[in-house]
Amino acid sequence: MITKNVEKAINEQILREEHSSRIYLAMASWAERNGFPGAANWLYAQTEEERIHMLKLVHYLNDRGGAAVIPALEAPGAAFKSLSDVFQQVLKHEEFISASINDLYSVCIKEKDFTSANYLQWYITEQIEEESTVRSILDQIKLAGPDKGGMFMMDKEFSVMATAKRASLAQSGGANAVT
Ligand code: FEO
Repeated sequence: MITKNVEKAINEQILREEHSSRIYLAMASWAERNGFPGAANWLYAQTEEERIHMLKLVHYLNDRGGAAVIPALEAPGAAFKSLSDVFQQVLKHEEFISASINDLYSVCIKEKDFTSANYLQWYITEQIEEESTVRSILDQIKLAGPDKGGMFMMDKEFSVMATAKRASLAQSGGANAVT
């Protein structure tokens, strides 16, 4: 059985993961409308990935005897200055999510819920990967520069990354993943 404090903290993370999915959905829609089909493809895949992060926590909490509560969501921002601006915001958001996972981990340790702390190791590792991927995307956007040729090549690269991300999500069980 899970303690009330851990249950509350996991529910807060469920909200953040679902909100992340919607933030990236708004970004994907912006990229699709502004001539970046590859980046849109990657961001749509990222939307799916965040939903999986949310679902894993819902299943985990319910399996441990807690109650996963599906929250109301605020609308994400929809105005972006450029593709670089989009990905700077992605990085800032992922850094915020990493900090919130760390806070959730601390609650588990304080409550002596080592099972949940152990479960969260997956999220801690995932956050290292997510931040690193976005930093490398920002480096590539910088290298591509503002000219159309560079951005065209960069956008093609995004499609390759999106295909790889979808393959990896399918391999890990996608939205059906319970653990
Ligand atoms: Fe689920 Fe990108 O953090």
